[in-house]
Amino acid sequence: MSGHGPTVPMTSHPSGPLSGTADVPGDKSISHRALILGAMAVGETRITGLLEGQDVLDTAKAMQAFGADIDRLGEGAWRVHGVGVGGFGEPGQVIDCGNSGTGVRLIMGAMATSPIAVTFSGDASLNTRPMARVTDPLSLFGARAVGRAGGRLPMTLVGAEHPVPVRYTVPVPSAQVKSAVLLAGLNAPGQTVVIEAEATRDHTERMLAGFGAEITVADSAEGRVITLTGQPDLKPQTIAVPRDPSSAAFPVCAALIVPGSNILVPGIGLNPTRAGLFETLREMGADLTYENMREEGGEPVADLRARYSPGMTGVAVPPARAASMIDEYPILSVVAANATGRTIMRGVKELRVKESDRIEAMASGLRANGVAVEDGPDWWIVTGMGAGGVPGGGLTHSHLDHRIAMSFLCLGMAAQAPVRIDDAGPIMTSFPIFEPLMAGIGAELDRTGT
Ligand code: S3P
Repeated sequence: MSGHGPTVPMTSHPSGPLSGTADVPGDKSISHRALILGAMAVGETRITGLLEGQDVLDTAKAMQAFGADIDRLGEGAWRVHGVGVGGFGEPGQVIDCGNSGTGVRLIMGAMATSPIAVTFSGDASLNTRPMARVTDPLSLFGARAVGRAGGRLPMTLVGAEHPVPVRYTVPVPSAQVKSAVLLAGLNAPGQTVVIEAEATRDHTERMLAGFGAEITVADSAEGRVITLTGQPDLKPQTIAVPRDPSSAAFPVCAALIVPGSNILVPGIGLNPTRAGLFETLREMGADLTYENMREEGGEPVADLRARYSPGMTGVAVPPARAASMIDEYPILSVVAANATGRTIMRGVKELRVKESDRIEAMASGLRANGVAVEDGPDWWIVTGMGAGGVPGGGLTHSHLDHRIAMSFLCLGMAAQAPVRIDDAGPIMTSFPIFEPLMAGIGAELDRTGT
């Protein structure tokens, strides 16, 4: 079942060469943040290149419910008239964040230091995901949360009437938790300090600075120390959202494993906190090059050229790189299945609490298509079958997880027999044009399946 629409079974057929240009949509992480910070600024923020996936649309709707005035001006072009830090009103309805962990956790942070009560809910996937990781630090500001057993949604969060600033060390590598604390710190007096042992994506820090907040980042023995001065007047911005490296990963990886392919994926954000997959692919021997490197909107950007790479070999991915490619392990495992030797992925416990248990979802689907996978609590190992060696022919389950659905569709493009997925519906959350985009470069997908 899809969170927001009908179930869409889909089959991916072994494909001829992929070629041409793949224009992937805007970055999901940056799109959420642009809407939320736009809503917390005083005046009009203009956004171009916004991802119009369901996750981000749900965040836009939430910001309207808190009082921001938001309009869509054209494709990817949005206007947000913010209410200022501390200006959120109490929504008159439940905030439905659909499938989005990022949406709900960032919005909880943003409202936790305002004296309003908000009830959050989501789809069957989101309502099983852990929220204590954000409500614990938000309670230090003075907010109170009441949810289901295990800190699950639906949940009501009552924001602090007299917030106090906090100093918090993030216990798991999570940009969502770090960002929730920073957004809560916006409406607390004094300095809020967040410490992260491992660097995670830093879009919130960059964007807060862009909106005029006083924020500093320093390296220390404990890790990255981020200090934010509360109660700033955020100045509205013009934001050009770069294209999403996590979405680019799918056409790039498909091209690496489909014989004869050669594609260009232009304008991809290559923030070092996001680019771990591309580094790993190059270590495996992928023919992947960066062309026309430049900076756009404060983020490094390049055009990616990916060519069929039959000689790839498995690698041990350094655990220290996990945070910079955490959403890309599912598609990496598909490339690993088409390489020779073993690809070892350790230090990835967080994969078990994403939109699905991604180790379990990928391991069972790869096995159903003839690939050997071993797994443990925080690791998994894929034994490669070499270029063109994946039998395919299996039925896989997307578990309401867009990245699992897209990964198995890419697997089918290079397998010996078609790969079926039970539901491509979740792809709408992050990559609504996936099907036409992949068809446009030569993939054969059809809406038949189970
Ligand atoms: C995100 C952070 C990551 C990532 C998610 C987007 C963000 O989650 O998996 O897709 O935009 O901050 P965690 O914070 O749980 O690692």
